Amino acid sequence: MSWISEWLGYAEENNLSEPQNVTIFDTTLRDGEQSPGCSMTWDEKLRLAHQLDLLGVDVIEAGFPIASEGDFRAVRAVAQNVRRPVIAALARCCHDDVVRAWQALEGAAHPRIHTFLATSDIHLQHKLKISRQQCLEQARNSVRLAKSFCEDVEFSPEDATRSDPDFLREVVEAVIEAGATTVNIPDTVGYAVPAEFAELIQTLRDRVRGIEKVTISAHCHNDLGLAVANSLAAVGAGARQLECTINGIGERAGNAALEELVMTMRVRPDRFPYSTAVISERLFPVSQLLSEITGTPVQPNKAIIGRNAFAHEAGIHQDGMIKNPLTYEIMTPQSVGVPGTRLVLGKHSGRHALGLRCEELGLQLDRRELDQVYRLFVVLADNTKSVEDRQILELISKIDSRCSPRVVAAAAPRISAVSKDNRTSQAHSSSTPIAALPNADRGGYGAAAAIAFEVHETEQQEDYLWGV
Ligand code: KIV
Ligand code: ZN
Repeated sequence: MSWISEWLGYAEENNLSEPQNVTIFDTTLRDGEQSPGCSMTWDEKLRLAHQLDLLGVDVIEAGFPIASEGDFRAVRAVAQNVRRPVIAALARCCHDDVVRAWQALEGAAHPRIHTFLATSDIHLQHKLKISRQQCLEQARNSVRLAKSFCEDVEFSPEDATRSDPDFLREVVEAVIEAGATTVNIPDTVGYAVPAEFAELIQTLRDRVRGIEKVTISAHCHNDLGLAVANSLAAVGAGARQLECTINGIGERAGNAALEELVMTMRVRPDRFPYSTAVISERLFPVSQLLSEITGTPVQPNKAIIGRNAFAHEAGIHQDGMIKNPLTYEIMTPQSVGVPGTRLVLGKHSGRHALGLRCEELGLQLDRRELDQVYRLFVVLADNTKSVEDRQILELISKIDSRCSPRVVAAAAPRISAVSKDNRTSQAHSSSTPIAALPNADRGGYGAAAAIAFEVHETEQQEDYLWGV
């Protein structure tokens, strides 16, 4: 059985019919910053925090104040200047950490102390060298101390997924009794698989005294590439806060990617009937800002915000996209703030996309002209990574002199055919994710089908076959 069908079993048992809010806890400035090469200065963190605020996240974990003077300053600056969201600061379960976290948070409109302690035997024996009993006491005392400063206290049993479930239950019960308002279950080493993680959340809900008084949260790492799947499975089992980062940055393989969580819930409300306060149209700009600040590029095929997430090179795909973007895109680029779909002109491209690009360049080619240009284009594309506009114009100038493409006003691109590295500035008009739209109005995609060509049945078939 696949994890999806396993997870769906849990989701069904948990009555997912009513849309419920899921709190988005962004830890880009804390766990995200722990990615090699991603550390940020206090003013960079503040700049990003303002954008996370505009993005609509509910909680910003701004840093780990005891870790350095710079991080203390960053948390304090975010706490004093970003007033709408909850601002969280991380602290180990010890006196000085909690006090330092509170000192950094004091100016916040909505402060939260997030304190954590490992509960797995591996961590207790090898890292902390303390007994389970000491762990229990330390967790309880730290939450009490945090609570003496701040009403909003989160506790995380680090390495929860490799902890003995009975001991985990004891610790969670103790911290709830001590006043924790959120209990976060971290899959610290990215070891869990979705059905198992959902089962853990469900077990805690079933067996921990007082669990109904707190928000259950999930914090998943991506070592097996399952951080997003595990987080969604946790929501299916009753978690109502997800901890995540922009671009999925974080320790080792990273954390669950915020943009993937949010868009999965938006595009598939049939399976994930949850709402978040995130303004999805701001996802791409924030992702770009983070990449610029950290100097870490986003992998091209990264879901939602990668350069290729809305790019199509294969002829069959380009042909389908021009006829109706529903064929190969499940959300509009605008719904995540990406300027537009790109049809990349390369060796896999078809005549349909080439014709569209010519039209956008202001040249309308008839069928015979397009055939000629396309033949030259295929030879050129076979020897290069992508074909630039200037090269297309050169090809047009080479075709049979009896042909004279009509110069027309350049078509405003809805879907644009471009060389590989250019983004188009404009495309579909709607910002609503495609799956959320009724059939009659799919975010402007229907109109895109009417763009450039009047083609006959056989020609359409040819387009389908060409360039693949
Ligand atoms: O991965 C982890 O366990 C953490 C905790 C501090 C929540 O980042
Ligand atoms: Zn983490």
